[in-house]
Formats: sequence, C-alpha cells, structure tokens
Amino acid sequence: MTPDRNSAARDLLAFYAEAGVDAVLGEQPVDRFADETSVATRALPNPFLPTSTPALPGNPGTGGSAASALTPPDEAAMAAREAAKSAKTLDELRAILDKFDGCALKATASQLVFADGNPQAKLMLVGEAPGRDEDIEGLPFVGRSGKLLDRMLAAIGLDRSSVYIANIVPWRPPGNRTPTPQESAICLPFILRQIELADPDILVCLGGPSAQTLLGIKEGITKTRGRWFSFNTGKREIRAMPTFHPAFLLRSPLQKRFAWRDFLAIKKALSG
Ligand code: URA
Repeated sequence: MTPDRNSAARDLLAFYAEAGVDAVLGEQPVDRFADETSVATRALPNPFLPTSTPALPGNPGTGGSAASALTPPDEAAMAAREAAKSAKTLDELRAILDKFDGCALKATASQLVFADGNPQAKLMLVGEAPGRDEDIEGLPFVGRSGKLLDRMLAAIGLDRSSVYIANIVPWRPPGNRTPTPQESAICLPFILRQIELADPDILVCLGGPSAQTLLGIKEGITKTRGRWFSFNTGKREIRAMPTFHPAFLLRSPLQKRFAWRDFLAIKKALSG
C-alpha cells in the first residue's frame, strides 16, 4: 500500500472505531465491489419470487441477519415466551437462552451476557444491553459505566455479592447501538422470567429503556426516576424504581446528585 492509501485506510478505520464498529463479523473480508454484475443483479428484485425483505444487518424490520431471516419476529417472540416459561431455574434459563436463535443479535455478539452478582440478593438491577466490554467478558456492567455502578452501590454499602444484575437484552447490539423495539420484545420474556426466578424484593431499572420496557411506562427517565412503581414478578408484587443509567451519569455528572438520592431511597427500602 502506498503511504497515501495507508493513511486513508487508517482514517477509515479510525472513523469506524469512533462510530462503534470495533468487531469483524466474518473470518474473511468480503470485497463487495469486486463483482459489479452480481451486486447489480442482487439489487434488482426478481418479480417471480414472493416479496421478501432484504437482509440488512442491524436495520430494524428488514429481516436483519440470518437468525432473524429464519425466524420472523412474531414467531421469535412466541418461541421466546414458550422457552422462557419452560425454565425452572436460573441455570436452566441461561442454558435455554444460550441455545435460543430467535434474536438476530446473537449472531453478531461474541457471547451471551446473562447476569452477574448474587441471584439470592434482595436487590436486582436491570440495564439495557451489554456493550463492548461486557461482550468480551460475558458479564453485565464491567466497562466504564459498570465501574461507576460499583461505586454507586458501594456508597450504600452494597457490592456484587449483595445485588443481582442483568439486562433487558443479553447480547451486545453491533456498535453499541440501541436495541430495536423488536429485539427488546423478543428478549422480554427471558428477562421477565429471570426476575421471577431471582425473586428480588426490589427492582431497579437502570435508564429509560429498561424502565419503559419493564414497567410499561411512557414517560422519560427524568420524570420517572426516584419514583416507586409496583412490579408483578409473576409470584408477587414488588417495589421498582427507575434511576439514571450510569452511562448517562458519566456524560452528565451533575445528575449524579439525583441518582444519589435514588440510591439512598433504595437503601432505606432494603432495610425496611
Ligand atoms: N450498559 C447496560 O445497559 N448494560 C451493560 O451491561 C453495560 C452497559
């Protein structure tokens, strides 16, 4: 490669990295410009075939990767409900989830990120989806926002041996993008069953998407944080509180004082 092409390639890689593209999806690179004719042919719909949606990775509602092309979203959500219901223990749920192919995110993630902490804990915290560090380690909240979460927990005398942590979506969305509503809906039966089996006394939703998905609320996190909601685990009604996501607090440190208030209220509720 000439020096010019070298620096262009470096700039392109830097751009990808900044955009969150930090993983390759195949062992071999594919030169999609090499065969102009096949690209042109692919782009033309065949009028003799039933209409189908093109498989564009990460494009909601278009079929996504191979996994979702094989399983339409409604079927996947139904399969997820059945599969989640069949789990009698958290270990069984993890094993079932690991085999579940209905969510396209599984195809691009390195591994399942099921949970961390103590499943017997009174307090369960649920985030949105794993990021890069979580995808590498296979544990939720181990990156920068996880470190902040650990400090917030330590401030009220807790650590990972006294809380249980999971996410709505257990596979990392490519480039850390937000999970689509479809992906969250497919994964929802699993996290609901996980909460039911862990049976915590208090549930904390980390961030708006977690609160909206689990508590069925429409309002944003600024309005709902710090408020107590009722959550039916399937076994009983427990108290649930939305609070700011640690990743948001890293970007907006002034909001930490509100999160601190929330954590004090959680501490009080745990001792009550
Ligand atoms: N953000 C989340 O919502 N979950 C994680 O596990 C990490 C970052």
